Amino acid sequence: MSSKITIIGAGSVGSTIAYTLSQRDIASQIVLIDINKEKVDGEVMDIEQGTCFRDPVSIIGGEYEDARESDIVIITSGVARKPGQSRIELTQTNVNILKQITPEIVKAAPNALYIIVSNPVDIMTYVFTKISGLPENQIIGSGTLLDTARLRCGLSEHFGVAQKNIHAYVFGEHGDSSFIPWTGAYISGAHIDEYYQTMKSLGADIEELDREAMTEYVHKSGGKIIANKGATFYAISAAVCKLCDTLVASSDSIATVSSMMHGEYGIDDVCLSTLTLVGPNGIRGKVPMRMSKEEIEKLRASAKVLKDVIAQIEL
Ligand code: LAC
Repeated sequence: MSSKITIIGAGSVGSTIAYTLSQRDIASQIVLIDINKEKVDGEVMDIEQGTCFRDPVSIIGGEYEDARESDIVIITSGVARKPGQSRIELTQTNVNILKQITPEIVKAAPNALYIIVSNPVDIMTYVFTKISGLPENQIIGSGTLLDTARLRCGLSEHFGVAQKNIHAYVFGEHGDSSFIPWTGAYISGAHIDEYYQTMKSLGADIEELDREAMTEYVHKSGGKIIANKGATFYAISAAVCKLCDTLVASSDSIATVSSMMHGEYGIDDVCLSTLTLVGPNGIRGKVPMRMSKEEIEKLRASAKVLKDVIAQIEL
């Protein structure tokens, strides 16, 4: 737990990531950077004053130079989605912000692993890959990590079984073109359809899963939270902290994060999420998963949605 983690952006997501990290044994040093120094000072004071109830952890507000020797840099900067706004509409504004930040932070921390969280996250991950000059293995988009968490939450409730027993994923864009490859959806070692049949035969009171409704629940969760409370930050922060944990662990893990595609499933030159091997050396590569023809088509359609956006932005 000697790692140094820098967070760029002290908005709701960046600050909540800093707070969550401060309460866990992942980082010993946390640096929070934002152009709004007053906000940073306030967030740092508030977070720091809660750290006396645990082992020492240093949290400071800083400048880009303070990111030197960071193990991990998390980029959350950008304008947040407003109620009713799509992630794609944010694109050029947030790309422009990323273009300002990138040279500064990369100069200070050229060896760090970078977690891109700003939306639209797959586009931002792609842009960062293109403009940072860093090796691709150092660049990880939070991608559908959160969507997969939402799916596991929903399936856990539906089947009445612990989330840790659910192995099911959301692939593609972190956005409306994402989909659930049901071919690879398991509860422990049993495919969810098989699990349902078994539980039924045991007399369990379970309804058949409505896949469309579950997909809609995943797609609409972000928008619903934004409509209800103005922003989403707790679950994304928990997901990013778990990812940080993975990056400082002694072995690799498999997660649905966004990274550059190189011909997997016939897709290249776009960042999106499929099963990905990730760990202390960053991205190791995509892990193939058996999917139906229709599912592969959905992944390609999601890639196309992202590529169409990439074609419209100014790098
Ligand atoms: C969400 C935002 C982070 O889906 O995109 O909650």
